[in-house]
Amino acid sequence: MSVIELPAPEEAAAETTSIFARVEHVIPRVEWPLHAPYVAAINALKKERNAVILAHNYQVPEIFYTVADIVGDSLALAMKAKETKADVIVLCGVHFMAETAKLVNPEKTVLVPDLRAGCSLAESITAADVRLLRERYPGTPVVSYVNTSAEVKAESDVCVTSGNAVHIVEALGQPRVIFLPDEYLAKYVASKTDVQIIAWKGHCEVHERFSGNDVARFRRDDPSLIVLAHPECPPDVLAEADYVGSTHGMAAYVGTLAAQQRAPRVLMLTECSMADNVAGAHPNVHFVRPCNLCPHMKRNTLPKVLDSLRTMQYEVTVDPAVAERARGAVERMLGYSAALRD
Ligand code: 13P
Ligand code: SF4
Repeated sequence: MSVIELPAPEEAAAETTSIFARVEHVIPRVEWPLHAPYVAAINALKKERNAVILAHNYQVPEIFYTVADIVGDSLALAMKAKETKADVIVLCGVHFMAETAKLVNPEKTVLVPDLRAGCSLAESITAADVRLLRERYPGTPVVSYVNTSAEVKAESDVCVTSGNAVHIVEALGQPRVIFLPDEYLAKYVASKTDVQIIAWKGHCEVHERFSGNDVARFRRDDPSLIVLAHPECPPDVLAEADYVGSTHGMAAYVGTLAAQQRAPRVLMLTECSMADNVAGAHPNVHFVRPCNLCPHMKRNTLPKVLDSLRTMQYEVTVDPAVAERARGAVERMLGYSAALRD
């Protein structure tokens, strides 16, 4: 497809006022004409391509609220990728999420706006590492966080996300499991179950930067703060938190607070854009924002999403022999999770 002529900024802004209404709490009005031409062009091209845009909760608000058809945590994106009837899935997240979408819906074309959007957890372990772990702990099931490559999933018995890890580890009915690659999520799961957990030493480069001291300092400055943390944070952070959960869980928790309290004050210890996106839905909540950006998630921008749909790049594929085994681990996770989500 040839170059797309973008509509003029002011004209596009005028035509997209109803879309701007979704982001007016988080994007200044003066900035909207910069985004509006891309938003209009992407939404038009999406229809032409019969494409659907899936966006993770860490995407910037101008992607999350204006062009995404489905938003959510890794579990929701995997579930929805499996259900979609669209021909093309544009995954605004990171590479392992796009691979997961391809695994569960192999007939679809899965695109990512930037192939370099990786993940420090996915990069912390290889398929060869998993084979060595199996040799060392024969007969012990391998439970892999979905933040892994398809090759690692192919060596695993079942995948989990932060939203279902405890449930699935318990449902396996085994006295011990190998849980990889996130050491802190493994410790969190271990604190919630009697199943013995053999962990790996992978860390999320975003969440490992939070510390328990930071939380204590924020609480000293504002004792009314309600602290939410993702389980990829170190244990001393989780020990200080009022709520620990997946990005979906945190958003739902804020929804409950917003309904119960007039102006709750919330510290959300996770990636930066998450608070922007939750703030968009709950303007009465005041967010204290220690801002840790995921550089991989932030590679996705509106111009790159448009380019992706225009050029049908970058297509994510998985070697069929790897895909067949990896799919088994993801499908087992979806089977265990079906009852957990509405
Ligand atoms: P969620 O599954 O909670 O959305 O987390 C994904 C992730 O990459 C967190 O860093
Ligand atoms: Fe990976 Fe951490 Fe970025 Fe999530 S926030 S995609 S775990 S690097």
